[in-house]
Amino acid sequence: MKTMIQVLPNGVRHIPGHLDHAAQEALVEDIREIVQAAPLYSPVMPRTGKEMSVRMTNCGPLGWVTDKERGYRYQPTHPVTGEPWPPIPDALLRLWQEVAGYPPPPEACLVNFYTDAAKMGLHQDRDELDLAAPVLSVSLGDDCLFRVGQTSRDGQTKSFRLRSGDLVVLGGEGRLAFHGVDRIYPATSTLLKNGGRINLTLRRVTRPA
Ligand code: SIN
Ligand code: FE2
Repeated sequence: MKTMIQVLPNGVRHIPGHLDHAAQEALVEDIREIVQAAPLYSPVMPRTGKEMSVRMTNCGPLGWVTDKERGYRYQPTHPVTGEPWPPIPDALLRLWQEVAGYPPPPEACLVNFYTDAAKMGLHQDRDELDLAAPVLSVSLGDDCLFRVGQTSRDGQTKSFRLRSGDLVVLGGEGRLAFHGVDRIYPATSTLLKNGGRINLTLRRVTRPA
């Protein structure tokens, strides 16, 4: 039998168990405050207007949003409340300094909330002007099956499980790797009282001066 060797692009890193339980709980508390100020909402896809199954909010000077008319973009305010996004928690700014290998601070932190049936199709993160900075993502709560491929949509992909406290870094040649979430594994974590999965994605948007 021929063995398929699945190679991830250089710069794609999975760092299992980086955050201990106390750090995860502290982050959940931070996110609770963020969601109080900037409620989760259901974004819709450009053109089709189809609602995404993942609910979102942001913190940081810029937040990633999408709607039918204006598509994917970054903006300084919440699309429903019109208020500025709350600041990125210190623990996440420190995590970026520790792991990203890129001193200018992140400008956007997307907060994705997945219920049991939510998923996210294969896509690239390419709405940022600064592609030299990596994308740093943090998983909290229930496990998911994460898929990562190459920099072209038809490239070979590899799926692996992400658990609460894991990090994924998309940097270097892997900065534009296609990725997505195939499924959530319900009730695999007790971190979130009502279950589900939170993913935090830290990104630099503009090129540093
Ligand atoms: C994303 O690509 O925005 C989310 C990835 C994840 O939920 O792990
Ligand atoms: Fe993404």
